[in-house]
Amino acid sequence: MSTTAVWSEEDSASFIRFAEHFVPDRAEQAAVVTAMVDPGRGTVLDLCCGAGGLSRRLLLDHPDCRVVGLDASDAMLAEASRQLASFGDRFRAERFDLGSPEWRRRGTAPAAVVSSLAVHHLTGDEKQALYRDMHELLAPGGSIVIADLVQPVGDRALELARRMWDEWVRAQGDEAHRAFHALEWSCFEYPDELDKPSPLRDQLQWLTEAGFGDVDAYWMKAGHAIFGGTKHA
Ligand SMILES: C[S@@+](CC[C@H](N)C(=O)[O-])C[C@H]1O[C@@H](n2cnc3c(N)ncnc32)[C@H](O)[C@@H]1O
Repeated sequence: MSTTAVWSEEDSASFIRFAEHFVPDRAEQAAVVTAMVDPGRGTVLDLCCGAGGLSRRLLLDHPDCRVVGLDASDAMLAEASRQLASFGDRFRAERFDLGSPEWRRRGTAPAAVVSSLAVHHLTGDEKQALYRDMHELLAPGGSIVIADLVQPVGDRALELARRMWDEWVRAQGDEAHRAFHALEWSCFEYPDELDKPSPLRDQLQWLTEAGFGDVDAYWMKAGHAIFGGTKHA
C-alpha cells in the first residue's frame, strides 16, 4: 500500500483486484451491515463506497431504498456506477472527500449512513467530528453502521489480529497471500500514515457522545469490527 497519507488510484486498482481475498468474511460483513439498517423508502449514504459491493447488498436487501455512493476515487466511482447500472436511479455515485465538511449538509436527511473500510483513514478527532455531523444529518430514527479496521488494545491483541488476518488471507491462496505482503496491506503488520484505526471502545464512546442510542458492536474478526448506533426518533 502507498506510504503517503493519501489513498491512491494504485490502491484502488489493488483493492478492486484483491478485496474478496484481503477482507475477512466480506459477504458476511455486508449482510451484518444491511441487517442493522432499516431505510424503508429512504436514502442510504455509503461513505467511501469503493466499487459498490456494500451498496449492492443494501439495494438488494432493502428493495425500496436508494443509495448514494460517495468516494474520492474516479476509478472506484466508475466501477461502482458500472456494477450497479442495473439498479437505475436507485444508485447514484458522488465524488467527495470524507474529511471535508461540504458534503455533510444535504437537502434530504438520509435514513442511514454506512461505511466499509474507510473511516480508519481519519484521525480520532476527525472520526469524532464525523460521528457528530452524521448524528445531526440523519433523519430521526436513522442509523449509522461502520464496518472498519479497529486498533487492537495491547500487544497480545495486536499480535492476534495480525496473525488472524494473515492466516485468513493465506487460506485464500498463494497469489493473494503474496500480494497481501508485497503491497504491505495489513496495517497491523506494516503500519503507515494512511491507516489510523482507533480502538473499538473509543469509537463506541464517540458515537454515544455524538448522541446516538443503542450503540453496540455487532461483529468482529481479525481487527475488523462492525459497530453503530441509532438516532432517537
Ligand atoms: C479499502 S477501500 C473500501 C471500499 C469499499 N467501501 C469496500 O468496502 O469495498 C477504501 C475506499 O475509501 C476511499 N477513500 C479513501 N480516502 C478517502 C477520502 N479521504 N475521501 C473519500 N474517499 C476516500 C477510497 O477511494 C476507497 O474506495
